[in-house]
Amino acid sequence: MKSRLQDIKKEAESEIPSVMSEEDISSIKVKYLGRKGILTLLLRELSSLSPEERKETGKSANTLKKWIEDTLNLKQTELREKGIESLKKGFFDITLPGRLPDIGSIHPLTKVLNEVVDIFIGMGFTIEEGPEIELDYYNFEALNIPKDHPARDMQDTFYITDDVILRTHTSPVQVRTMERRPPPLKIIAPGKVYRCDADITHSPMFHQVEGFMVDKDITFGDLKGMLELFVHQFFGKDIALRFRPSFFPFTEPSAEVDIQCVICKGSGCRVCKGTGWLEILGSGMIDPAVFSYVKYDPEEWTGFAFGMGIERIAMLKYGVDDIRLFFENDLRFLKQF
Ligand code: DAH
Repeated sequence: MKSRLQDIKKEAESEIPSVMSEEDISSIKVKYLGRKGILTLLLRELSSLSPEERKETGKSANTLKKWIEDTLNLKQTELREKGIESLKKGFFDITLPGRLPDIGSIHPLTKVLNEVVDIFIGMGFTIEEGPEIELDYYNFEALNIPKDHPARDMQDTFYITDDVILRTHTSPVQVRTMERRPPPLKIIAPGKVYRCDADITHSPMFHQVEGFMVDKDITFGDLKGMLELFVHQFFGKDIALRFRPSFFPFTEPSAEVDIQCVICKGSGCRVCKGTGWLEILGSGMIDPAVFSYVKYDPEEWTGFAFGMGIERIAMLKYGVDDIRLFFENDLRFLKQF
């Protein structure tokens, strides 16, 4: 058995150092160390030897086994490294970092619009939409703004014909909805609006969300409560708001809502022009004149309405100081949201 072990050792020492491939390594592993490998079989026969012989032969057999294993492992590592080296020298460099695909994201205006809509949906409002190319009748007339009314000057209208315009606000959706559906109503109407105006805070196309509610015994208190809930959810619980008397032809009484400046928290800064307050929306109780256009009985129904600009509240929320950034679609800007 001793001489058989010597033969195995000689054979292994001559053949293992010259293995060239991973296949050679596995076949050599099988040949010596497999279940029927020549060294495995020899080790199994050790039990037939005398204790002395067994100790001696067993020791050298195990040393040989370990040498075979170690050498094959070393060979394997060498071969793998060599493979990588030759790939590196070849036609492409596998160490070059991969190119990450650019992943798109939701536009900040869409994000803010969705957020606003979600808050009102949470309060039980449902969504309505109206056309962007609108009749003068819905945009002005039925909102109590007759042809010669000075309030038309507030809105720089794009006219298509004398009667057809690009809507200047989302308020016409109030009229269209009330014409089609009987009260009670609890509606929000998001969408694009158009005004001939452009500077760092005005864009010829921008977004508004209109909201209105009509039911029995709706009061200014309902309007205040809903808008307060909205401001606290959208801007944060610690942001105060105030209602400032104002005028809109389609609401009476009317109010504009200011929030405490989100930048300086009310102490006065460049953004709030030192006042500590920022105007975010117009609102009021729906004027009975509007109800008469849609044939609602103003003795039976009351309602509130409000409208806000999405770009404006997005600028306030994110501290953006130029509205044009939203429309240039510069990735360096968009990636910040
Ligand atoms: N439509 C007005 C505008 O674009 C905003 C507005 C004011 C909407 C008062 C309303 C409202 O519903 O009640 O300037």
